Amino acid sequence: MKEKLDLILKNGLEQIEKCVDLKALDDVRVRFLGKQGELTAILRNMKEIPAEERKNVGMLANVVREKLEKALSDKLAALEERQLEIEMEKEKVDITMPGVGVKKGALHPLTKFNNKFMDICVAMGFTVIQGPEIDTDYYNFEALNVPKNHPARDMQDSLYITDNIVLRTQTSNMQVHAMEKMKPPFKIVCPGRVYRNDDDSSHSPIFNQFEALVVDENIGLKDLMKMIDVILKKLFGEDVKMRVRPSYFPFTEPSIEIDATCQMCGGKGCSLCKGSGFSEVFGAGVVNPKVLEMSGIDSKKYSGFAFGPGIDRSVMVTNKIPNIKYLYRNDLRFLKQMR
Ligand code: DAH
Repeated sequence: MKEKLDLILKNGLEQIEKCVDLKALDDVRVRFLGKQGELTAILRNMKEIPAEERKNVGMLANVVREKLEKALSDKLAALEERQLEIEMEKEKVDITMPGVGVKKGALHPLTKFNNKFMDICVAMGFTVIQGPEIDTDYYNFEALNVPKNHPARDMQDSLYITDNIVLRTQTSNMQVHAMEKMKPPFKIVCPGRVYRNDDDSSHSPIFNQFEALVVDENIGLKDLMKMIDVILKKLFGEDVKMRVRPSYFPFTEPSIEIDATCQMCGGKGCSLCKGSGFSEVFGAGVVNPKVLEMSGIDSKKYSGFAFGPGIDRSVMVTNKIPNIKYLYRNDLRFLKQMR
């Protein structure tokens, strides 16, 4: 019996030693110490052992059991520690590795110019409004004193959706929407996209304008020119010079065209300004009383002035962009250069 117990201990210890995972270790435990285990069988059958041997065998069997239990628990601790090390190894983060890097976005040059212009106007007391890009012929033309068959319609190559619905050719449609809704005195500015059937390196079928309209008592051309002078200085710097030429728009009377120091050459004269040192910036004028009346504003009490710059040209010149299409292609290679 003693040999048998020694053999159980030897085998048990060997097998415990060989275990590489918790499952194998548990199998060994069951094999020796489980209900049907080899050592359990001996302990259970003690009464069959002759009385004189029983005590010694009992003691020895208990020693074997304790040794096996100790070996099992030591191995269990070792395996658990190893397991933990493996998991920690897997989850290890190398904090010295370079980061992934966050790519910074940037505002589109048109948006930047827009924001600058808006800030200037808001500081002067203008309310910013937005309105439809798809509008009726009435708002885009008729209420601005451009009836059907008026030759002024040829000034703008319009894109019609139906006979009566047009992609707005100018943000001036917002003058009419504003006059219908707002009570004078008011000052509104409306930035937005406009559409014309025009397509070459300096014209795009989509481009951007602003519309500014002031309606109040006793205001006129000199107030308009003073305001434009202030805005141009804030936009392009204190040194900018302004030049005024007579013009024609059906919705203003008188109408003027504003030129400012050429932003490409700073006024020295270049190919862009054809040597004049000035470039055209926008149309403006005193609102035609007929236009006020058509939108329900008493033209005996109130007068108004308006101006409507296109902003693409300025953005192209200040950023040295050779073709207007770059502004509308959303090509990241271009946009990255505009940061
Ligand atoms: N809407 C005109 C255009 O697109 C520009 C313009 C001229 C706007 C005179 C105005 C204005 O408000 O008063 O050509």
